[in-house]
Amino acid sequence: MRSSIRFLRKGKVAELADIAPTDTLLDYLRLTERSMGTKEGCAEGDCGACTIALGRLDRGGLRYQPVNSCIFLLGQVDGSEVVAVDDLAEAPDTLHPVQEAMVKHHGSQCGFCTPGFVMSLFSLYHADARPSRSDVNDWLAGNLCRCTGYRPIVDAALASCRTSPADRYAERKSETEAHLKSLLSDGDDVFIGNDDAFLAIPASVDGLDRLYAAHPEAILVAGATDVGLWITKQLRALPKIICLHRAGLDFIEATEDALIIGSAATYAAAQPHLAAIDPDLGEILRRLGSKQVRSTGTIGGNIANGSPIGDTPPVLIALGATVELRRAGITRQMPLEEFFLAYGKQDRAPGEFLTRIIVPRLARGQHLRCYKVSKRFDQDISALLGAFRFDIDEGRIMSARIAFGGMAATPKRAFKTESAIVGLPLADERQWRRAAGALAEDYRPISDHRASAAYRMATAQALLEKARREIAVQSSRHTRVVGQREVLVGRLV
Ligand code: FAD
Ligand code: FES
Ligand code: FES
Repeated sequence: MRSSIRFLRKGKVAELADIAPTDTLLDYLRLTERSMGTKEGCAEGDCGACTIALGRLDRGGLRYQPVNSCIFLLGQVDGSEVVAVDDLAEAPDTLHPVQEAMVKHHGSQCGFCTPGFVMSLFSLYHADARPSRSDVNDWLAGNLCRCTGYRPIVDAALASCRTSPADRYAERKSETEAHLKSLLSDGDDVFIGNDDAFLAIPASVDGLDRLYAAHPEAILVAGATDVGLWITKQLRALPKIICLHRAGLDFIEATEDALIIGSAATYAAAQPHLAAIDPDLGEILRRLGSKQVRSTGTIGGNIANGSPIGDTPPVLIALGATVELRRAGITRQMPLEEFFLAYGKQDRAPGEFLTRIIVPRLARGQHLRCYKVSKRFDQDISALLGAFRFDIDEGRIMSARIAFGGMAATPKRAFKTESAIVGLPLADERQWRRAAGALAEDYRPISDHRASAAYRMATAQALLEKARREIAVQSSRHTRVVGQREVLVGRLV
């Protein structure tokens, strides 16, 4: 058992024992370290001003990912490397290549957002990705600039991030990997505090299970992209926090007919595997939050938070996913749609946690289509999200699984509509329009600031027609402005 967290800072191991469960990484950098380069803007993960680069081992290799330090708990850096904008300049008068490029391309005016952009570009620089302009837009979707208009920043990215990294972080890569391996190898559970208030980081699922069974009122933190806002925005007191990032729940296993995703696997880690099931799945994840949110938010968190507008649950329900839970050594499984009981109520007992999600691949004759409808293309919460899986034989629907987010108090299957379309020929638009009327029996959507009930219902019916049409003609050229399947599939290969 260890009563401190240990992480890498400027090439050295930093060890902290005197920390509170809800301390954020940003507060530590600015208020304790007095590294004031990292800024605070929104304090809710939206603007990217607080972006740092987190170095973690990914299948044994060092990977830098952008993270919003304002909603990232200090405990979550245990076993990682933290790189902040203050660290980058190679010497007082020698800027890092991405900083150099930002100066040269006038990528900064008031400069408030600039440290966050620089750290997103630092992560891109180390991704060795040879990015296109649209890739750069993806990488920067989580960074907001109110002054420059972005073009100079994108130009700076293209100028500095298209060659292999050659800075001191690249030079000392194997040394950093060795450091991180030794930090992670102690296998110690971390427990800082006492039975009334603690920050815990179990180093195994059994350790997590024992601790959570003893303290079922503790808050589990996976990526903290929801919980972080409970702290920074709702100012909630959370005396007992259990961080999941070292409990061994971040695995992704592929079998012949399914993908098994550990509940603490991040969106970023799961994206390529889910995109391989169907390009629409990859696109839904690409539009979920931002790079910073996807590198920390997890599939398990997106399910466990039970949000009516979480993006992955409807798609996973349409695919027929199963969720597994564990408590005191006993595991149970259920179809994902049965996990959501009512608004804010899931079928999860006190002390029980999600361990994995089993996602079936598409079998022969099965077609998936999913569509996220939101006001902004990037970094926006869905107004609604429709997911359709049809089993088709000789142009006729043999069976269907349809699920929506944003149409009810929980992600929910459209059982009435499914039965209304079974047996219909794909080609018969008139019969489908009639069947789409069943959506009004499946859902009673609400009106809120994202959309009216009428808009949601009309759009849901249109999405059903869109799925029918795209599958019938096997093309999305005439039904999509962006995210065309032909382009997405091209990107996958
Ligand atoms: P956490 O915040 O760590 O936890 C969320 C909840 O799940 C907590 O109650 C926690 O206790 C519980 N929990 C976590 N893991 C487990 C487990 N294994 N077992 C039991 N309980 C568990 N969401 C979308 O769907 N689409 C978006 O486009 C989107 N955009 C976002 C943009 C921003 C800027 C931010 C900050 C958030 C956004 N989110 C979005 C919401 C958030 O990213 C997701 O809901 C996320 O998946 C939560 O995952 P997490 O790992 O960060 O969860
Ligand atoms: Fe805006 Fe962190 S301060 S994302
Ligand atoms: Fe002012 Fe970006 S330079 S916010």
